[in-house]
Amino acid sequence: MEGWATEKVGVAVVGVGFVGGSAHTPSFKKIPGSELVALCARTERRVKQLSEKYGVKYYLDYEELLEDPGVDAVVLAVPTPSHFDYAMKAIRKGKHVLCEMPLAPTVEESAEMAEAARKAGVVLMPVLNFRFTPAYVKAKEMIGSGAIGAPIAVHYREFIPVMSLAEQWPAGSWAWDVEKSGGYPDFTLAVWSLDMLPWMLGSEIEKAEWMSNYRKFEEYGGILGYNTMGVLKFSNGIVGSVHLSASVNKSASTTRLEVYGDNANVLHVVWNNKIVLYGPGESPQEFDVQVSGTRVWGHRQIDEHFVGCVLGKEEPQVTAEDAIKAIRAAKKIVK
Ligand SMILES: NC(=O)c1ccc[n+]([C@@H]2O[C@H](COP(=O)([O-])OP(=O)(O)OC[C@H]3O[C@@H](n4cnc5c(N)ncnc54)[C@H](O)[C@@H]3O)[C@@H](O)[C@H]2O)c1
Repeated sequence: MEGWATEKVGVAVVGVGFVGGSAHTPSFKKIPGSELVALCARTERRVKQLSEKYGVKYYLDYEELLEDPGVDAVVLAVPTPSHFDYAMKAIRKGKHVLCEMPLAPTVEESAEMAEAARKAGVVLMPVLNFRFTPAYVKAKEMIGSGAIGAPIAVHYREFIPVMSLAEQWPAGSWAWDVEKSGGYPDFTLAVWSLDMLPWMLGSEIEKAEWMSNYRKFEEYGGILGYNTMGVLKFSNGIVGSVHLSASVNKSASTTRLEVYGDNANVLHVVWNNKIVLYGPGESPQEFDVQVSGTRVWGHRQIDEHFVGCVLGKEEPQVTAEDAIKAIRAAKKIVK
């Protein structure tokens, strides 16, 4: 392949909802080495306006999109129930696939997708964007350089406002179809942290046990606000807990990672913009890791990395096998 300036990956974003429309579409418009050539959705509702905004064509028929010779790669940001079918169709056409998570509702289908991509010689990359989130990248670097000695315990909590969940995935939408989506939103949303934690700690999840309490919120269309808690054991002995919640007000919404070290130091990642190191001194040290736009949660960075991998300039840092491990651990939530 030639250099970035002459060789471009033609990308189509399929599904322009929450993540496709707001994260991947603006990202791919700016990535060197790629050209956003098309968008695709089922109805004109959002895609028409986005295609005008970004100056690209749009398709309402995915099969037609796959016939477009300008499309080298698809970004599958459609609801999870369509991932398997859409990915397999793209792979059969020799297109590279950046697929939203969970890759598929089951471990078996995810493995089949991985095998098909391997045989076809195309890149199948899961959007495990937490590995590219600046706050987590910095925390991993600090842990790697000995800031807390060796990690011995971890807490992770992710509190999503119940009203925001109801807005994004209203009752009756695909995200609540356990059969087709693999589980409730607690399953869907667990996969990013269940991939991030082993990556952060350099150790695999050996054991995961979960308990959930679902509360029906009639005032938000009857969605099930969840409190799902997991206890984890990692292969190197680290113990951990995960609390996934979607039953709180916006004022209580947060994400927090706490890692405890064997030198008594503790590192917190607060939301996506602050790291606090609790060392031996009187006051903790704070680090500002604020970035802006679609880089905040790592979408732009993983999109860039995908392009680098398709161009053969980079080795995948995140693979379908990583996705499968996270899905396997999250599946235990689903009773
Ligand atoms: N990486 C992340 O940060 C992140 C965040 C949220 C969701 N997700 C994942 O992204 C995927 C999509 O979630 P979302 O919340 O953006 O969904 P959404 O419901 O907001 O949007 C889905 C989009 O896909 C389109 N669509 C639906 N069915 C289609 C079909 N058969 N063909 C073509 N287009 C179709 C819809 O028109 C819409 O544009 C899910 O797998 C979800 O788990 C990832």
